[in-house]
Amino acid sequence: MKQFIQDLPKVELHLHIEGTLEPELMFELAARNNITIPFESFEDVRDAYNFHNLQSFLDIYYQGANVLITEQDFFDLTWAYLLRCKNDNVVHTEIFFDPQTHTERGISFDTVVNGIERALSKAVSELNITSQLIMCFLRHLDEESAFTTLEQALQHKDKIIAVGLDSSENGNPAGKFERVFKRALNEGFLTVAHAGEEGPASSIRDALDLLQITRIDHGVRCSDDEAFVQELARKKTPLTVCPLSNIKLKVFEEMSEHNIVELLRKGVCVTINSDDPAYFGGYMTDNFMAVSDAHNMTKAEIAQFTFNAIDASFISALEKKRLFAINEAYLTLHHS
Ligand code: ADE
Ligand code: ZN
Repeated sequence: MKQFIQDLPKVELHLHIEGTLEPELMFELAARNNITIPFESFEDVRDAYNFHNLQSFLDIYYQGANVLITEQDFFDLTWAYLLRCKNDNVVHTEIFFDPQTHTERGISFDTVVNGIERALSKAVSELNITSQLIMCFLRHLDEESAFTTLEQALQHKDKIIAVGLDSSENGNPAGKFERVFKRALNEGFLTVAHAGEEGPASSIRDALDLLQITRIDHGVRCSDDEAFVQELARKKTPLTVCPLSNIKLKVFEEMSEHNIVELLRKGVCVTINSDDPAYFGGYMTDNFMAVSDAHNMTKAEIAQFTFNAIDASFISALEKKRLFAINEAYLTLHHS
C-alpha cells in the first residue's frame, strides 16, 4: 500500500507555504538574516510543536514566519516544498500564502509573491509540477486590512487564482469578510475559505452562503448535521481535508475516529491534504498513509481521493481530463 500511495499521481489543494518551514531551514534563514529565534536546536523546535488546539499552533506558526525576509527566502521555502512534492509524486498543487503575516512586519507584498512565483515557474520546467496560488486573508485581522491586501493583489492578478480565508475561526465569522469577498469575486478571483475546522457546521454554511466559495477548507465538522452532509454530497461541494493536522490540533483524538473515510463513503467530495506539513509531521504520502493505516480501505477508495482533488482543482477541463486518464491507468495497473 505504501508504494501504491507513494507513486499515485497526487493533487494537493490545501497547503500553506508558511507551514512548510522545516526547522532546518528556519535556522538557516535566521542565521542568514540575523534574526533571533527562541530555540537552541532542531529538537527544541520539534518539542515546541505540541499543540492543544488551533490557536496554540497559530501562535508558533506566525512566530516561525519571522525568519522570512527576502525574495530569496520565499523562493527557498517554496522550492523546498516543491522538492517534497516531487518525492511524493504530487503533480499539481494549489498553494496558500498569507501576505498579511509578512506585510505587517514590513515585508512588501511584491517580495513575497515574486519569491513564491519564481519557484513555482521553475517547478513547471524542472520538476514537471504545475500549481496555482491562493491568497488568504487572516480572519483575526479586520476588514480594512483585508481590503488593503486585496488592493495589493490586483497588480498580481496573473499569478493569483483565488482568495481564501484562514487563521482563528472561533470569534471571527465569515460574515466579517462578506464585502471583501464580493469585491474579490467582482475582480475575477475564485474564492475558498477555511470553515468547520473548529467551528460548527453553521460556520461552513455561512462561508458557502456569504462568501460564495467553490470549495471548503477542512469542513470536517459538517458531520454534526447529517442533513448538511447529504446536501454537500448532492451538490458535490469539495472539502479539502487535512488528516494529520486534525489529529495534531485535536479536532479528532485519533485517526481511527477521523470522519474522512465515512464522508468519502457517503459520496462527499473529500480530498487529502497536508495543511502545514512541517508542523504536523507529514507531507502528502504521510497523510494518505495515516488514513489508510487507520481505516480499512481499498486502493480504489484511496485513488478516489485523488479523483476528487482533480475534480475540485482550479485547472482547465482539458488538464483535468489528462490527469484523470493518468490516474485511471495507474489504478488499473495496480488494482489487485
Ligand atoms: N493557517 C495555517 N494553517 C491553518 C489552519 N489549519 N487553520 C486555520 N488557519 C491556518
Ligand atoms: Zn489550512
